[in-house]
This record gives sequence, structure tokens and C-alpha cells, in this order.
Amino acid sequence: MYKVALNFADGKTLFCPVLPNEILLDAALKSGIKIPLDCREGVCATCQGRCESGSYTQDYVDEEALSEQDLAERRILSCQTRVQSDASFYFDFDSSLCNSEGTTEIITTVKEVVHVSAGTAILRTTVEGDTSLNYLPGQYARLQIPGTEHRRSYSFACAPGTQTLEFLVRLLPDGVMSNYLREHCKPGDTIAMEAPLGAFYLRHIDRPIVMMAGGTGLSAFLGMLDQLAEKGGAGFPVHLYYGVRTEQDLCELPRLAAYTRTVEKFEFTPVLSESDGDWQGKCGFITDHLALYEATDMPFDMYICGPPPMVESIKQWHQKSGQTSARIYLEKFTESNT
Ligand code: FES
Repeated sequence: MYKVALNFADGKTLFCPVLPNEILLDAALKSGIKIPLDCREGVCATCQGRCESGSYTQDYVDEEALSEQDLAERRILSCQTRVQSDASFYFDFDSSLCNSEGTTEIITTVKEVVHVSAGTAILRTTVEGDTSLNYLPGQYARLQIPGTEHRRSYSFACAPGTQTLEFLVRLLPDGVMSNYLREHCKPGDTIAMEAPLGAFYLRHIDRPIVMMAGGTGLSAFLGMLDQLAEKGGAGFPVHLYYGVRTEQDLCELPRLAAYTRTVEKFEFTPVLSESDGDWQGKCGFITDHLALYEATDMPFDMYICGPPPMVESIKQWHQKSGQTSARIYLEKFTESNT
């Protein structure tokens, strides 16, 4: 039996015994430590941590979950890690996330679907009964698509505390959720969902915040900004960079503009990777516009949510920039093409 220490961002350490060759996630669960998880297949990276000491092997690690650089830094997926000695692992979230009630399956009712850009819709559902769902803005839910066996994951685009849940959904030409929303969805439909999932959420705020959204990665930040708006701000500047392909892909601009009034020191910068001649704003990739953050030693927290190539390019920017004073938190969602 090995002795394994699990260290968390809030400074707490939890211990669990692990059998030789046992999967770390299973051993932790046996000890009542619920490391956030989703796929259990080495794909989603929700359960990721970093080995600080000791030996381990990993079964399967999808290349979109952890890059070669991540592996070189001894990042691990708990659901794929077999512990081979006494060891210690670090998880970049608070230990409280591991003793929450955990993920539950709830039934919700469709309230409306609103098309907010050429390829994006907002799905609003209400929680049945007189309850609201407990989650942290930035986390996500896995929705069962009515009439199918398929499930798809979407970040909450609203703060908790009300019966209404909101999700930003990218509409694909032929996707299971997209087809359902376009052709069948009507108010009153029921949608089952598992939630909350993920370990992406706003940490204790003691420095400026930079948010990087790629496409519908905006959803997670809408939830966080709703949360900040309730308090009037973060007490520090908050800058959202919002990258999409074309101007038609931008959505929720009035809502983002409203946050400049309700969230103190909030500003946002849309960035188009393919602009036509009329666009007056920023062009290219988000990383083309981060010189301000390379030049400063000012500490800040950077939150990144988007598809894997976008997240990787920002991580590479960060490594090359020599920036040492930023804390990085990220949610890399694997975009489904169906
Ligand atoms: S739960 Fe998805 S990679 Fe471990």
C-alpha cells in the first residue's frame, strides 16, 4: 500500500492509501475525496493534476487532454494514473471541490432557444421543482439530447441561484444538439443533465483578471461575469478577450457592453481571425494583442476557455513571453463535430 498526498490550491493536503498499480482517481474516491471528473477515459482533462514526487504510469492520455509539454511537466490525468510508489500530487483547485455533493442528474424543462449569432444559440431551461442548482460559474453540465442516446457538454452561461439555466451552444451544420435545437426543440421539452462538472471556476480574487474566450468558450465567462456583476466588480480590473472567426460569429455584445456598467473596471476586446474590410476592431489571434501583459511584472490571473488549438496557442505565448507572474487556469473543450 502506498501513501499518497493530494495537495490543493487552498493549501490543504488530503491523504489516501493507494494499492500498487491502482488508479489514483479510484483510490481517492474510496477515501471520500471526489476529484472532479467527467469522461474517465483520458480525454476531457477535468481530473488533471501534477505529480510533485513519486512514480506513476498513465494508461491512455489523449493528446488534446495533455500536450507533450504537459507530460514533460509531469501533469497527469487521475483517471489514467497508476501509482507506483509513495507520491504526492498537486491539483489546481480548492479541496472544497472534492467534498461537494458531487455531480447529480437533474431534469430541466426547455424555456426558450434564442439565436444570438449566425452559428450560436442560447438554450434556457428551468430546473424542475422549487430548487436551484448548485454550481460554480465556469463549470459545465452534460445534457442528454432528447430522443437520442447522445450527450453533449456545455458551460453554464449564467450565475447560480435562480431556477433558470443558460447555455451557449455552437450550431453545427449537422450536429445532434444543433439539429435538435433547430428542428425539434420547443418550450416544455424535458432535458436531463448531469451537473456540475469541471474544475474551472473563478478563484479568490487578489489581482487583475484576464479572460480569454474562444468561440462558445464565452459561455463560462458569461457565468463568471454575472457573478461579478452581483457584487459590482472584482475589486481589480477584468479584461475579456473574445476571439471568433468573423464578425457574424460575435454574440452577446449588448450583454458584454452591459457588464462595463455593472462590473467595475471591466473591458472587453473582440478579436476576429478573419475580418472583412469594414471591421474597425482587433484582427488576428488573441495572442497578437497581449504585448501589454508581456511587458509587465504585474501579477494577474489568466482564465482561458476555448477549443484546444486556441488554448494551446495561449499556453505557448505564455511560455515564450517569459511572463512569470501570471497564474493560468484553463478549460479546454473538445469541440464535437456532430
Ligand atoms: S475524467 Fe476525463 S480525463 Fe479523467
